[in-house]
Amino acid sequence: MIIKSVEFIISAVKPEQYPDVSMPEIALVGRSNVGKSSLINKMLNRRNVARVSSKPGKTQTINFFLINQQFHLVDLPGYGYAKVSKSQKEQWGKMIERYLSKRGPLRAVIQLVDIRHAPSKEDVQMYQWLSHFHVPTAVIATKADKISKGQWQKHVKIIKQTLGMEKHAQVQVFSSETGVGKDEAWQMFEQFLFG
Ligand code: GTP
Ligand code: MG
Repeated sequence: MIIKSVEFIISAVKPEQYPDVSMPEIALVGRSNVGKSSLINKMLNRRNVARVSSKPGKTQTINFFLINQQFHLVDLPGYGYAKVSKSQKEQWGKMIERYLSKRGPLRAVIQLVDIRHAPSKEDVQMYQWLSHFHVPTAVIATKADKISKGQWQKHVKIIKQTLGMEKHAQVQVFSSETGVGKDEAWQMFEQFLFG
């Protein structure tokens, strides 16, 4: 994918604020701090178009980015962030669920997991929720630079088993640090967006 333009469109908290267009879109979900915003930056060759932080809970709204005047990438808040109140968590949960369940142009959800760890209970819940509602989903295992290449397949296997993925389903290994998996991730995105 050649990135000709990247525009930040809006930071939304409710559906009335979502861009009112029929362009296809892909959203990123995953635990807080897993690297959703970093992946967006890496994919777009931008340093900080999506705001990144070493502290979890950085992204708190639904951020729409328009790419090449052609499609949207959507950065969602992470789940599983312990340091917010129960009511705040519920509010975020509702905001994310409303987006995922009602967004017409949404072509696919990319679920990010940390390659180093078995998916959490919440990761499993998210994966099952997406599958239950028949949302096309792909899993990317990120932070691959944090373990040696020889360990990747072993960790991918644990991720597939824990999420209960089908045997033939793919997990794409990725690193926002080194760019490994970027071309493959674009191929995957393009397939979802333009078929
Ligand atoms: P929330 O907005 O809180 O949901 O987090 P997020 O999923 O958007 O994570 P973010 O992209 O802000 O990254 C969190 C931290 O992980 C930052 O310190 C990033 O630099 C780091 N990080 C993200 N991806 C990678 C990666 O592939 N490799 C390494 N080594 N660090 C990464
Ligand atoms: Mg973020």
